[in-house]
Amino acid sequence: MTKSLFLLPGDGIGPETMTEVRKLIDWMNQEKGAGFVLDEGLVGGSAHDAHGKAISDDDMAKALGADAVLFGAVGGPKWDDVPYDVRPEAGLLRLRKEMELFANLRPAICYPALAASSSLKQDVVEGLDILIVRELTGGVYFGEPKTITDLGNGQKRAVDTQVYDTYEIERISGVAFELARTRNNKVCSMEKRNVMKTGVLWNEVVSATHKEKYSDVELTHMLADAGGMQLVRWPKQFDVIVTDNLFGDMLSDVAAMLTGSLGMLPSASLGAPDPKSGKRKALYEPVHGSAPDIAGSGKANPIAMIASFAMCLRYSFNMIEEAAAIDAAVASVLEQGLRTGDIMADGCTEVGTGEMGDAILYQLRKSA
Ligand code: IPM
Ligand code: MG
Repeated sequence: MTKSLFLLPGDGIGPETMTEVRKLIDWMNQEKGAGFVLDEGLVGGSAHDAHGKAISDDDMAKALGADAVLFGAVGGPKWDDVPYDVRPEAGLLRLRKEMELFANLRPAICYPALAASSSLKQDVVEGLDILIVRELTGGVYFGEPKTITDLGNGQKRAVDTQVYDTYEIERISGVAFELARTRNNKVCSMEKRNVMKTGVLWNEVVSATHKEKYSDVELTHMLADAGGMQLVRWPKQFDVIVTDNLFGDMLSDVAAMLTGSLGMLPSASLGAPDPKSGKRKALYEPVHGSAPDIAGSGKANPIAMIASFAMCLRYSFNMIEEAAAIDAAVASVLEQGLRTGDIMADGCTEVGTGEMGDAILYQLRKSA
């Protein structure tokens, strides 16, 4: 059975980190008969340069047709002045919206070898393993109206709209509860019901979904600002956090930093299972951005991209053992003291993007 992967390396460090994933895919195809069929397209600034759009219709169709999409990163100062609707980020948002990837899974795991490089005290983060489930196709990112109007008196007015329907909150909380059952069985829902109507509805629907179908899971609620505070105070109190698009964007960056570096964290964005085949549309991407300051220098950390591929194996192809082997290879290379610049520490050896990728592949072959 072939497995189609559509690669969208994007801008900045996206292409360099994707090269390291290709090494793993090539090895799995050649040595393990994995049967991945690859195609590659353009997204973000690179697509804008080629087509004047953040993603072409042709590449959009390929993304919709593939078993899974691997996405690098988009954006950079070069495109700061392009019109808003064709800015690099618009490509990513279009993919999320048209593929209906409503569930964004962002694990924050602190590798033992990196516990000392967190900005928080070692005992606060050591052994950390939490999962942020972010709603990804609704809320203020997509709500209409979304406008800037000239009021004609030297003033302008900007409007974004935060909007959620019951079904959107039901399906994202369902994903969070299901995943909690495979972990430590706890969900904390975060919103701002003290000031926002969407927060009131969010709270109500999460509670109702819990009562109806998931009462075996422990559910707590927190205001999102307090949740941010608790994340840096004692993150190990959490198992699964479920929250909306905007709060999830912010809280997942905070959670990422707990683990020592933004360069470590993968994510999976999933759609609903197809009623016939049971397959979900899916896109996998690092939580980090395009890091234009180091792009092309061979210094980028490829681990988040590689770990995103591991999530792809797990969630799109049910290749649980292979995914675990990649995660173990990453942990072992870190244990050996190899570090890219972003996670460099005393007594460790600094390596570049390619060397890090090679070391992970070497470890993987050894364990295979
Ligand atoms: C993320 C990013 C994106 C977002 C940007 C690039 C549009 O910050 O995936 O977290 O805000 O969702
Ligand atoms: Mg973000």
